Amino acid sequence: MTNDLGAIAHYYAGKLAVHGERAQGVDWNGETSQTLRFGQLLKVVDTEGAFSLNDLGCGYGALRDQLSGSCPRCDYAGYDIAPEMVVAARNRFAGMPATRFEVAAVPDRIADFTVASGIFNVRLDQTDEAWTRYVETTLEHMDRTSARGFAFNCLTSYSDADKMRGYLYYADPCALFDLCKRRFSRHVALLHDYGLYEFTIIVRQP
Ligand SMILES: C[S@@+](CC[C@H](N)C(=O)[O-])C[C@H]1O[C@@H](n2cnc3c(N)ncnc32)[C@H](O)[C@@H]1O
Repeated sequence: MTNDLGAIAHYYAGKLAVHGERAQGVDWNGETSQTLRFGQLLKVVDTEGAFSLNDLGCGYGALRDQLSGSCPRCDYAGYDIAPEMVVAARNRFAGMPATRFEVAAVPDRIADFTVASGIFNVRLDQTDEAWTRYVETTLEHMDRTSARGFAFNCLTSYSDADKMRGYLYYADPCALFDLCKRRFSRHVALLHDYGLYEFTIIVRQP
């Protein structure tokens, strides 16, 4: 992990220390939007049968909670750069079959699908250029570790200017759609209609 990611891990560990294992503890406004995001990302899963899933930037494991209800046959691996998040997740899901959590910025296996919710939002003092390169490199890792598809979300550059903050990264949805289409797959969906200041991109690898 680079020093830059170390600072970001520290940022999120601070949120967890203050707010605990709930949406605010991973810097979301609340559970409703957190769940809405998971619903968008899980559109990449095109089966009702068994599948494996990498959750990059898993936080304290909120997506694992959601999957327990809707996808009981999921083989799940969560990865996070903040060791405190991984400890919290391991404690919450101790003994849960087909479930593990690791400190990592890159999945250690190829799964059917990989999802990432919120990992590109906080960039602290990194430049647009540096962060854009980092986003592209991370998407390459997601592509390489996903057999059937991957999905991620970003804050949108179409946000209201007075609400935007310098330490956050607002991606251009059209540019990322174009990148995914050219570099990863002909089958790409851009979802920008679910009422948050963000978008989700789904890349299918048929
Ligand atoms: C906004 S939080 C969302 C957590 C979780 N996905 C959720 O929605 O509840 C982002 C999480 O991603 C982690 N993270 C950020 N960049 C990462 C990376 N490159 N690889 C793995 N984890 C990362 C952070 O430590 C943080 O826990």
